[in-house]
Amino acid sequence: MEPLSGKTALVTGSGRGFGRAALLNFAKLGANVAVNYASSGSAKEAQEVVKEAKKLGARCIAVQADVSKAKEVERMVARVVKEFGGIDILVNNAGAYSRKPGRPTVELQEEEWDWLMGVNLKGAFLCTRAVAREMIKRGKGGRIVNVASIAGIIGSRSGCHYAASKSGAIGLTYSWADEFAEHGIAVNAVAPGPVRTKLMERTPEARWRVYAALTPNGKLVEVEDVAEAIVFLATAKGVNGQVLVVDNGRVKH
Ligand SMILES: NC(=O)c1ccc[n+]([C@@H]2O[C@H](COP(=O)([O-])OP(=O)(O)OC[C@H]3O[C@@H](n4cnc5c(N)ncnc54)[C@H](OP(=O)(O)O)[C@@H]3O)[C@@H](O)[C@H]2O)c1
Repeated sequence: MEPLSGKTALVTGSGRGFGRAALLNFAKLGANVAVNYASSGSAKEAQEVVKEAKKLGARCIAVQADVSKAKEVERMVARVVKEFGGIDILVNNAGAYSRKPGRPTVELQEEEWDWLMGVNLKGAFLCTRAVAREMIKRGKGGRIVNVASIAGIIGSRSGCHYAASKSGAIGLTYSWADEFAEHGIAVNAVAPGPVRTKLMERTPEARWRVYAALTPNGKLVEVEDVAEAIVFLATAKGVNGQVLVVDNGRVKH
C-alpha cells in the first residue's frame, strides 16, 4: 500500500510549475489528487496533468476556480469533497507576480496591488477557510502547506506587493498553526528562492545571474526541489508552524 493511499490532496494552481510537480508527487504516493486552474486558457494544461496523474494510478479531477473568488472556491471544495469524500491535504500554491518586475512602488497601480493580493493572500484565506471547515467537520485532521517565498522574509525589489503578500502567507501560517492544532491540522509554509517558471518569465536575464550569484553554490533551485519540500511538509509528523526555505542556502532563516 502506498503511503498516501486513501488520502486526498487539493493543490491550487496545479496546471504547471510547482503545483503540478507537487501534485504528481502526491499521485506517486497513492493520493487522490485535484488539479485546480483559474482561466479557461489553462484548462488544456490542467487536463494534461490529469492524464499524467491517472497514468501514475491516481484518481484525479480538474476543477476550475479563481482562488480570489469565494463562490468559485466554495464550489471547487464542494466538488472535490463530493468526488473523494474529503480533503486531507491543501496546498495554497496559486500565485501571481509583479506584472513588471522592478517597477518602483511610486509607479505601482492600485489595481495591480489589489489583483495580486487577491490571488496570493485572499486566495489562501478563502481556500483554507473552505477546506478547514471540511477538515474540522470530518474530524480526521489534515495538512495545509502555504507556498510563500524568500521575498516574504527578505523583501523584494521586484515588487513590494509580491513581498508583502508572501510575508502575509507566513503570518497566515503561524496563525493557522496555532488555531487549527486542536483539530489535528498542521500548517506549514515553503519559501522558495527564484525558479524559472512561467510566473517569472518577465524577469530580465541579468537578474537571473544575480540570483544565482547570491547563493553559496552559485546555483538556483529547481521546480522538483520545491515540490519535494511541499510533499515533505504535507506528510511530516511533528512539524507545525514552520517556514522551510528552499533556495540553495542564500537565506538563513
Ligand atoms: N517561481 C518562483 O521563482 C517562485 C519563488 C517563490 C515562490 N513562488 C510561488 O510559487 C507558487 C507557484 O508559482 P510557479 O512559480 O509554479 O508559477 P506558475 O508555473 O506560473 O504557476 C502559477 C499557477 O497559479 C495559477 N493561478 C494564478 N492565478 C490564479 C487564480 N486566481 N486562481 C487559481 N490559480 C491561479 C496559474 O494558473 P492559471 O494559468 O490558470 O492562472 C498557475 O497554474 C506561487 O504562489 C508563487 O508566488 C514562485
